[in-house]
Amino acid sequence: MRRWLLSVPVAAALLASAACGNGGMSAPDYGPAEAVICPNDLPSSCPVPTPSYASDVQPIIAQRCVICHESGGLEVAPFDLGTYSDVFTDRSAVLDQVYACAMPRVDSAGALPLTESERTTLLGWLVCGAPQN
Ligand code: HEC
Repeated sequence: MRRWLLSVPVAAALLASAACGNGGMSAPDYGPAEAVICPNDLPSSCPVPTPSYASDVQPIIAQRCVICHESGGLEVAPFDLGTYSDVFTDRSAVLDQVYACAMPRVDSAGALPLTESERTTLLGWLVCGAPQN
């Protein structure tokens, strides 16, 4: 009597498990290298102490904005920012422009971007509702 020892190869199926999550992640897209890096630094609430228009804000605007935003300025911009009521009237456009790093417009006439502390002062004051303080 012959015994057939049958070796039955069992194919062990190695199932590649479904990709475990991170397989498809790619590097974040930072955009073109020359893109201006504008900080995402809008205060979420009115800072304490509130920057003062008279002693903190007005000197910045006078030095950094009014050079263009007045008749006869470096570039004649559409409205004046020379008085408190000018700035207050346009406060929401001013906030947008400063936050987006669009103003002061950096140009060949010599205007430069705001420093970090000028930016912090202006944005903080605007978030407080642009008080006449
Ligand atoms: C180099 C000149 C220059 C400087 C400095 C400058 N501006 Fe302007 N600004 C302009 C001109 C020109 C326009 C109109 C054309 C444009 O929007 O580019 C303008 C437009 C604006 C507008 C209206 C934008 C809109 O379309 O609603 C706001 C708000 C503004 N400026 C705020 C500011 C503030 C705040 C500063 C200072 C922190 C400032 N600008 C400094 C030249 C300047």
